[in-house]
Amino acid sequence: MKVAADPDPSLVSQPDMEPEAARDKDSFRNYTSGPLLDRVFATYKLMHTWQTVDFVRRKHAQFGGFSYKRMTVMEAVDMLDGLVDESDPDVDFPNSFHAFQTAEGIRKAHPDKDWFHLVGLLHDLGKVLALAGEPQWAVVGDTFPVGCRPQASVVFRDCTFQDNPDLQDPLYSTELGMYQPHCGLENVLMSWGHDEYMYRMMKFNKFALPPEAFYIIRFHSFYPWHKFGDYRQLCNEQDLAMLPWVQEFNKFDLYTKSSSLPDVAALRPYYQALVDKYCPGALRW
Ligand SMILES: [Fe+2]
Ligand SMILES: [Fe+2]
Repeated sequence: MKVAADPDPSLVSQPDMEPEAARDKDSFRNYTSGPLLDRVFATYKLMHTWQTVDFVRRKHAQFGGFSYKRMTVMEAVDMLDGLVDESDPDVDFPNSFHAFQTAEGIRKAHPDKDWFHLVGLLHDLGKVLALAGEPQWAVVGDTFPVGCRPQASVVFRDCTFQDNPDLQDPLYSTELGMYQPHCGLENVLMSWGHDEYMYRMMKFNKFALPPEAFYIIRFHSFYPWHKFGDYRQLCNEQDLAMLPWVQEFNKFDLYTKSSSLPDVAALRPYYQALVDKYCPGALRW
């Protein structure tokens, strides 16, 4: 029997779909049945137990200096190929295909927005955290704000948070928690994972991308917000203005997964040119 490491719940819960099947959006993100449910549940149980205000602050301090590694964007794309083989036995093609498929889907629909194409390539590169020894529950999966009560659409909301100490805290366990109404998501502490890490890495390395690119990457796993409409009490005008971008991106993140793999070697020069334009050279991770 093949022993797998923790799966990436954002992949196993969003299985590859043929384009026809992909139109049935209810068939995605099935958390009530399926052969991988136990493993997905176990990952979320750990995440919802250990992701606390204190934990997230410690991770910001630990990774905020970006002293883990120096490498180019393309080296990070290649590096992730090693990760998915170990973490998800049901995805039998390298993670870089997902990066290129997402990017190519965006490129077809938005040919004039080269920065958006690059977002497709970049969006999951924060998963290099898993190769820095971080557990899967602190890298992948849906994100949610810490420091306030989890809302109804957080996956496994009712059966995974009972051991999280923040839910015993008189402030953190309220609907607004430690936040002011409509404080803006930029002022909210999100559960720690590949979204927030990559956002901070892009800021640190001064990626020359528009604000939409930073925003999409920072919140692309925040399904309770961009898919289910929760946490509106924390949003400001900027968040509502950015929401359509996150939702537009999500179409390609989810529905471009397919077993017809792109010719990565042929695509590479186009994306290398985008990297050279927006985020060149050896970067700090
Ligand atoms: Fe992601
Ligand atoms: Fe993705």
